[in-house]
Amino acid sequence: MRCEVPLARPCLGEAELRAIERVLASGRLVLGPEVERFEEAVARRCGRAHAVAVSSGTTALEIALQAIGVGPGDEVLVAAFTWPSPAHAVRRVGARPVLVDVDPHEWNATPEAFAAARSPRTVAAIAIDQFGFPARLDALEAALPGVALVEDAACALGASLHGRACGGWGLVACLSFHPRKVLTTAEGGMCLTDDAALAARMRELRNHGQRAPGRFVQPAGNARMSELHAAVGLAQLERLDERLAERARLYTRYRDALGDRLQWQRPAPGARPVYQTAGVLLGEELADRRDALVEVAAQRGIELGRLSYALGRLRSLESFVSAPLPVSEQLERAGLALPLWPGLDEASQDRVIEFLVDWTSKS
Ligand SMILES: Cc1ncc(COP(=O)(O)O)c(C=O)c1O
Repeated sequence: MRCEVPLARPCLGEAELRAIERVLASGRLVLGPEVERFEEAVARRCGRAHAVAVSSGTTALEIALQAIGVGPGDEVLVAAFTWPSPAHAVRRVGARPVLVDVDPHEWNATPEAFAAARSPRTVAAIAIDQFGFPARLDALEAALPGVALVEDAACALGASLHGRACGGWGLVACLSFHPRKVLTTAEGGMCLTDDAALAARMRELRNHGQRAPGRFVQPAGNARMSELHAAVGLAQLERLDERLAERARLYTRYRDALGDRLQWQRPAPGARPVYQTAGVLLGEELADRRDALVEVAAQRGIELGRLSYALGRLRSLESFVSAPLPVSEQLERAGLALPLWPGLDEASQDRVIEFLVDWTSKS
């Protein structure tokens, strides 16, 4: 099927090509200066003392939980509407994910629901800045004393809450550099923290459990980021603000044109989002026809996506449902992601707008 207006497209250019050439010419492909420079630059951007670059956002979450010491017998609170990685990471370290429903307007964790789901076994909570909209991280921290807060800022590099950068909250924050994120290294992720001992454990965990070269202290895997990936990340970082501004402009253009035909994600008080995804909810009349709408759009060359997942409905996680999760299920059913990437031209965006105006007028 032809797809003239894809959902997402990474912004890559001359700078990224030059960065790759630089690394290839150097002959040093791993454990070198590019990763160090990338870590320093992202730590600075997020206001953190330490950054540990890894092979993906999923790996970042797993390593963060392991380094905190989460394991069998522990419970970890997880927002129930998202990509499965945070809850899978909890399972992969042997702990129990406790799925907590999200706010119907902000689509993120609420401090009240997280506090209510806490048990004596709760050791950590993962708050997600879904689609680049910061969760109520300050209130979550306050509502969960004694619980290690992990900020899943996979989508939120460049966003902030009350002036403090996303990636800068919680005991550890995790980023993803997947091609659909606001900054990409192809695959990649990062753990950010202000705790030096925790950072040292995360460095061990990404590098075969080595405390120093040849000093293996635990049987960990290889979760390193390569020099090539880091060099691309550095090039991307140079233009991050410009590209975030472009995303914001395109998002606003959608909102101005589509207004209350659709429901939009609401930012938390004090939040400055980045628009990693243009997510919308269809009205009740159209929600049941969401998949048909996606298919007809595809026939017209427009790629629309489902928004995200109600984790309690996934086979890998259904046995961890301990309470009804109606908001997550509704967001999954009625949610739609619209094409959004820096470089999307206005004529293409107008095709998406016209298509949606047409469908929402018919319903
Ligand atoms: C909220 C969230 N957490 C974690 C991840 C995992 O990141 P990665 O794809 O880099 O493993 C994603 C990726 O889509 C995500 O959206």
